[in-house]
Amino acid sequence: MPHIAVVGSGPSGVYTAQSLLQQAGLPDVRVDVLDRLPTPYGLVRYGVAPDHEKIKSLQNNLRAVLQDERIRFFGGVEVGPALPPAKLLELYHAVVYCVGAATDRRLDVPGEDLPGSWSATDFVAWYSAHPDARDDGYVRQVRSAVTIGIGNVAVDVTRMLARGATELAPTDMPQAALGVLAGSEVRDVFMVGRRGPTGARFTTKELRELGTLPDTEVVVDERELALDPGYLDATALPAVVRRNVAVLREWAARPRTGAGRRIHLRFFLRPVEIVEGHGRVAGVRFERTRPNGLGGVSGTGTYEEIGAQLVLRSVGYRGVPLQGLPFAPERGTVPHAAGRVLRGGLVSPGEYVAGWIKRGPTGVIGTNRPCAKETVTSLAEDAPALVHKELAGDPLAGLIAAGVRPVEWDGWRAIERAEAELGRSLGRGSVKIPDWAGLLNAARGGPGA
Ligand SMILES: Cc1cc2nc3c(=O)[nH]c(=O)nc-3n(C[C@H](O)[C@H](O)[C@H](O)COP(=O)(O)OP(=O)(O)OC[C@H]3O[C@@H](n4cnc5c(N)ncnc54)[C@H](O)[C@@H]3O)c2cc1C
Ligand SMILES: NC(=O)c1ccc[n+]([C@@H]2O[C@H](COP(=O)([O-])OP(=O)(O)OC[C@H]3O[C@@H](n4cnc5c(N)ncnc54)[C@H](OP(=O)(O)O)[C@@H]3O)[C@@H](O)[C@H]2O)c1
Repeated sequence: MPHIAVVGSGPSGVYTAQSLLQQAGLPDVRVDVLDRLPTPYGLVRYGVAPDHEKIKSLQNNLRAVLQDERIRFFGGVEVGPALPPAKLLELYHAVVYCVGAATDRRLDVPGEDLPGSWSATDFVAWYSAHPDARDDGYVRQVRSAVTIGIGNVAVDVTRMLARGATELAPTDMPQAALGVLAGSEVRDVFMVGRRGPTGARFTTKELRELGTLPDTEVVVDERELALDPGYLDATALPAVVRRNVAVLREWAARPRTGAGRRIHLRFFLRPVEIVEGHGRVAGVRFERTRPNGLGGVSGTGTYEEIGAQLVLRSVGYRGVPLQGLPFAPERGTVPHAAGRVLRGGLVSPGEYVAGWIKRGPTGVIGTNRPCAKETVTSLAEDAPALVHKELAGDPLAGLIAAGVRPVEWDGWRAIERAEAELGRSLGRGSVKIPDWAGLLNAARGGPGA
């Protein structure tokens, strides 16, 4: 009976577990899904924006998979120095690493670490109640904010900065973050791309939503859009780019409404410095760019500064090395061949990867399904050789002997009940618990549970 560990319970981990159950060639398989957090679902819980309730509800699909009797969830189990990959290989026939991309890419410009300059990763973690998040108030005493990057995460954080209390209160956002955002005096948010509108990575549905926010107008300058040859004639470009261009053209033609908040979409501006004033962020200095004819942009030597008290750098996520697993630092991924982990260029028997740690930090939730399937197909091909290994017994006993005290499925259900109860006490729907102590107390029936 093959016993497989899946490390990480985000979409790629859950789709891997599901594929393992469905895979011919792995009859009677047993799967343990381990996560360093006491809560499952990865970025679906801690990344997808709280006001996107429909996408958030995908958690119900992931839940249905994890509730299968052949799967066990072990939360609060971090693979790392205390529980190294070599130990897991002793306990299981195979291990699939689905650990995502937990950190942010750096901009590498002066001033990046000034107070008031944050990665979108930090800001998202805070409003999503990730227990490792830092609380800095973010928008306190901020009237103008700059978001660097024009991908979907930049759109998310820009939208969250422009949303009002009425729209955020029904979400499961933690109470402290709701209080801070409800008191926000942010009036202008600048979302700035180094490329033109046809080089943006956001998708049209997400872009269009920016134009639907109450008491907020989107400001776009037709002259800046027109610096992009593709904007003037988008016919040969992919459908998503043509749709984005159509939305931007419509906004550029709209008269100003005098709304209380403004989202300024800016293009062809490359950040060169986060500017300091009184010891913290005072703005961002950009160099104007232009298309270089090779699909990229180059600098023009002219500069512009946008004043801001908050900067959110949304230039992509990045995988972190897991001690004991190989890592390709230039890509931030684990080297692999069709999901099989490569050590020194050779397949490492019994070790696999799926999701963002395999492909890099791009792709929507659904992209992880075929990615997981490819990995599981490789694992099933290798299974006859792997299942020869004699395991010492139930891997849970081995985990406990290694000093681990997992939060099992019942513990997670207790967290869900505690969050529903917290919401009731606040007159809201379910409200997330934002700290380790609160989560573990709830899971283990401790004080306040
Ligand atoms: C801010 C943001 C918003 C997004 N919004 C959307 C959206 O609206 N719609 C959409 O389709 N896609 C969205 N995406 C993309 C989507 O979230 C990703 O495609 C998906 O989550 C990647 O899945 P994953 O399982 O590889 O990683 P993750 O979801 O990050 O899961 C990784 C899991 O591994 C665990 N882990 C990490 N290290 C260890 C360790 N050492 N030991 C044990 N466990 C560990 C983590 O705790 C986590 O639970 C968004 C992404 C971001 C960043
Ligand atoms: N609602 C949704 O479906 C949703 C929501 C959130 C996230 N996601 C998905 O999650 C994935 C990650 O999203 P993401 O927004 O983090 O990444 P992304 O799509 O890769 O976008 C990153 C942005 O940062 C810019 N950038 C990178 N380095 C830069 C630098 N040094 N200076 C200035 N700009 C820089 C990129 O510009 P260049 O192109 O010029 O490099 C790009 O505009 C994506 O696949 C996304 O679609 C989906």
